[in-house]
Amino acid sequence: MDALCFGSLNIDYTYDVPHFVSRGETLSSACLRVFSGGKGLNQSVALARAGARVFHAGAVGEDGRFLLDELQRAGVDTGCVQVRADVRTGHAVIQRDPAGDNCILLYGGANRSVSPAQADAVLSRFRPGDLLVLQNEISALEHIIKRGKELGLRIALNPAPMDPSIPALPLEALDWLLLNEVEAAQLLGLEPRPDPDGAALARQIGARFPGPTVVLTLGAGGAVCLRDGGLFFQPAFSVPVVDTTAAGDTFTGFLLAGTLEGMDPASAMELAAAAAALTVGRKGAAPSIPTREEVTRFLSSRAEDGLKAFFCT
Ligand code: RIB
Repeated sequence: MDALCFGSLNIDYTYDVPHFVSRGETLSSACLRVFSGGKGLNQSVALARAGARVFHAGAVGEDGRFLLDELQRAGVDTGCVQVRADVRTGHAVIQRDPAGDNCILLYGGANRSVSPAQADAVLSRFRPGDLLVLQNEISALEHIIKRGKELGLRIALNPAPMDPSIPALPLEALDWLLLNEVEAAQLLGLEPRPDPDGAALARQIGARFPGPTVVLTLGAGGAVCLRDGGLFFQPAFSVPVVDTTAAGDTFTGFLLAGTLEGMDPASAMELAAAAAALTVGRKGAAPSIPTREEVTRFLSSRAEDGLKAFFCT
């Protein structure tokens, strides 16, 4: 089975800051780095580095051709990405604080030029059972989900960034719904809590949106997977954090790649947690995503930690 990631490609401008800028404040940054990113591109890179056969679809401007090089170096087929002369590539302005946390301002650019016609042309190249991986950083998302479903594709949605369009999407068409605790609370119309009970939150999402396998990431609190009524909890590996950018994308890509290979949920969750742990130890988005070999080595080195996912009732 192939994976088609139909998603954003961004130029990430990452600024090191002593703290996140506040309302009315002017803040200097001592360091600017430019990375390839975008939730779509990051998830494609993660899927490919995990070993899946991956196609990326989306759009960039002429200024974003280097993003295609990044995808190709990871082994991703970029034949379904449009390069447009009339729009600039999407970008993200990312503040990274000394703890490695970030906050992100997005400009959609070419990502918002994806049309239903482009979607139809791309989707018709894939076969029933192939995996369609989506996030919420491109236009025509509702059309893509409906058409993907008609074509018999299995669909995974990471509804990030969350916005009011998400609850209106045909979420019952999904096979996978992958989100973090803040997005889950927003989707349920709840106030996000600092220490959510991941199991309870996953069950609430599962009750409201029955059908897809629900994967809830909880940062340093690990991740929970709700599948066919069974709940698996995967603790996070304890590692020094340099930059959390793309950790969720890495988790998503490795989890889905593991599942495509036929791994059981517990093993796929452990693989994804290990990959995310390596990502947070490095700066930037796509360049921070590890290879499968690195993840395998990390897992052997941490075997004594016993952090394999376990089944909860
Ligand atoms: O998930 C991280 C990504 O979010 C960044 O690469 C940025 O481009 C935004 O899309």
